[in-house]
Amino acid sequence: MKIFLKDALATRNLGIILGQTLKANTVILLEGDLGAGKTTLVQGLGKGLDIDEPIVSPTFTIINEYNRARLPLYHLDLYRLEAAEIVGLNLDTYWEGVEVEPGIVAIEWAQRLPYRPDAYLTIHLANDNESQYLEEVNSTARTAQIIPFNLSLDEKILTLSEG
Ligand SMILES: Nc1ncnc2c1ncn2[C@@H]1O[C@H](COP(=O)(O)OP(=O)(O)OP(=O)(O)O)[C@@H](O)[C@H]1O
Ligand SMILES: [Mg+2]
Repeated sequence: MKIFLKDALATRNLGIILGQTLKANTVILLEGDLGAGKTTLVQGLGKGLDIDEPIVSPTFTIINEYNRARLPLYHLDLYRLEAAEIVGLNLDTYWEGVEVEPGIVAIEWAQRLPYRPDAYLTIHLANDNESQYLEEVNSTARTAQIIPFNLSLDEKILTLSEG
């Protein structure tokens, strides 16, 4: 399904709904170019999970953990990592929630993952280039392509694409 996001606030709102509805152990693979809005979406996700702390990009820290909310949020950014380093992160401990408390795992630059969990939600953010002519005046427009793999989405999210 595809959702039109007219500005950063719309992207944040999509994140809020995801944060309010996703279940523990959900992995979100975030794809999209630099500045597509991946961190903005996760900031909304944090809001939807009732996280009070500011959500900041984990580009340098690789992973940021937020534990005082409805569910823990594990926010990762693989931008600076090589495949071997990613394997070394043992990400399965996060998405299996065995050694860590089960929560939401949000991974920026997920296209770099050498392996994937059994179930996940891919969200691909891109500039909205369907309206090429409008691009200059409407440069904040994005689209979110949401593709669930082995999981079902809440009704609230499904209705977004119709609105
Ligand atoms: N529709 C939109 N959705 C999200 N961000 C938008 C939108 N329109 C404009 N922006 C702006 O674009 C920027 C997106 O930055 P953000 O850090 O979320 O991107 P990112 O995909 O995480 O980038 P990076 O790959 O560097 O981590 C922000 O400055 C935001 O305000
Ligand atoms: Mg980012």
